[in-house]
Amino acid sequence: MYRTKTNGELRLANVGETVTLAGWVQRTRKMGGMTFVDLRDRYGITQIVFNNEVDADLCDRANHVGREWVLQITGTVAERESKNANMPTGDIEIIASSLRVLSKSDTPPFTIEDNTDGGDDLRMKYRYLDLRRTAVRRNLELRHQMAILIRNFLDARGFLEVETPILIGSTPEGARDFVVPSRMNPGQFYALPQSPQTLKQLLMVAGFDRYFQIAKCFRDEDLRADRQPEFTQIDCEMSFVDQEDVLEIFEDLARHMFKEIRGVELPAKLRQMTWHEAMRLYGSDKPDLRFGMTFVELMDVLKGTGSFPVFNEATYIGGICVPGCTDYSRKQLDQLTEWVKRPQIGAKGLVYVKFNSDGTVKSSIDKFYAPEVWQQVKDAMGAADGDLVLILSGDNANKTRVQLCSLRLEMGERLGLRDKNKFECLWIVDFPLFEWSDEEQRLMATHHPFTMPNPDDIPLLDTDPARVRAMAYDFVCNGVEVGGGSLRIHDGELQEKMFQILGFTPERAMAQFGFLINAFKYGAPPHAGLAFGFDRFVSIMAGLDSIRDCIAFPKNNSGRDVMLDAPSELDPAQLDELKLDIKP
Ligand code: AMO
Repeated sequence: MYRTKTNGELRLANVGETVTLAGWVQRTRKMGGMTFVDLRDRYGITQIVFNNEVDADLCDRANHVGREWVLQITGTVAERESKNANMPTGDIEIIASSLRVLSKSDTPPFTIEDNTDGGDDLRMKYRYLDLRRTAVRRNLELRHQMAILIRNFLDARGFLEVETPILIGSTPEGARDFVVPSRMNPGQFYALPQSPQTLKQLLMVAGFDRYFQIAKCFRDEDLRADRQPEFTQIDCEMSFVDQEDVLEIFEDLARHMFKEIRGVELPAKLRQMTWHEAMRLYGSDKPDLRFGMTFVELMDVLKGTGSFPVFNEATYIGGICVPGCTDYSRKQLDQLTEWVKRPQIGAKGLVYVKFNSDGTVKSSIDKFYAPEVWQQVKDAMGAADGDLVLILSGDNANKTRVQLCSLRLEMGERLGLRDKNKFECLWIVDFPLFEWSDEEQRLMATHHPFTMPNPDDIPLLDTDPARVRAMAYDFVCNGVEVGGGSLRIHDGELQEKMFQILGFTPERAMAQFGFLINAFKYGAPPHAGLAFGFDRFVSIMAGLDSIRDCIAFPKNNSGRDVMLDAPSELDPAQLDELKLDIKP
């Protein structure tokens, strides 16, 4: 037996016991005739003491162990003279009677402690060492715990876990597939699933009624803090349900998770906000409701009522009211103006109005407006004395709202209103079924081509498809889209119409989705579903800034695994076997 106890479990009650521990050397300290070794494993850290006066040879060997060596130590549990209240084993130490080196270690490239000196790249390269750090390990433990809770929750409600294939066919509609060449079918490729969407629909046709899967998904898209090329979904599908049934089940799941993991009670019924309202008030389909500062449109108040040319030419003018910020200095406001003008935000400029505590008003565009107009702005914004109003305008309402959204989030951040221990969850509903693609110059499915249109809007499919609402919903928490789903079309004719609007010829629709179209000819039940982004869900629970921190072996921002050095070139023999030529 390598060990009788772990490094996290010994307490005062164990004093006097002889134990054998194994683990990694966190650090060693020499003090007088004593050598202290902190021994670490997944469960914690235990202090080991070697006394030169008791066993000089053993102590000398302890003096020669280095960081991250793997040791096996036998000794007696003793009460510590100077206790450490910061660690669970801080009341005891082990008086060592034997030491065996199980494995030596090179000097690690960074310190394996909570506050490490290793930069991102270095820690990614040596991810197995980074994973030894408590903070990173805890995230994976949380992930495990959440997976178990979710499985049990869904199992108790009759959901069946079914694995769907990873090697599937490519669907050019979602142009961002990862593809895999087939050796046995030269010149042909599999694609990795962006999600098990069509497969889970086929499981409904097969009568499985309630399906779930903790599913790996792959998307070759640009990366951000909340996006990885390879990520995990809690993927679900149900038959014979309407939208409210789906929302209720997954709202319950979210409620259960927040309660179990964070001890937080979500409201009995989550708020549902339409996509239009979210865009109008927050400029985002994933609004952060932890704080106010909702948008107020100021077209009536500021367009044509003064001589500021920018506003007079604008098609959208909107503002946010930042509470208690009239003490922002000229310099701070200039910096904020530069901030909104950065290419990532893209605003042309920023107008401010200070409603000072003494009742005076100061604006960057004072000279263009009569004082009454500022009073109207104050009323429209619901501003109080002491509030700072920030205004953006532009010739494209949606774009300007998105810019104002960035500014709102930035101000929320500066004012400390984006508290990671506060959770504001809601559903966004009534998404538009289609969105216009400038790139493709055609309507594209906002979600995917199988999303059910709102039955009230079906007549609009022929006359004004851009106005058709989808039976689709997103679960949003703290400004993050955690999950999304929809009711699906189960009627062949309606599906055909959708393909038509999306510009598919019947032949192309058949070539790409024939398997689904055909399956629906054999009795498709009404069905709907949803997928939570598991990585995002865990990150929210753990208060992480990036989903990378809850993934064991994540990719970096260029989609590389720097530890495995992937992706990499294939050797010529492999290319040959796959009948592939690489263009120079
Ligand atoms: P959707 O594309 O909205 O829906 O994805 C569902 C959820 O998956 C997460 N997610 C991601 N997480 C990390 N990295 C990524 N690159 C990434 N992309 C998406 C998000 C998102 O809300 N088949 C549908 C679901 C359905 O309709 O049932 C789908 O995949 O948290």
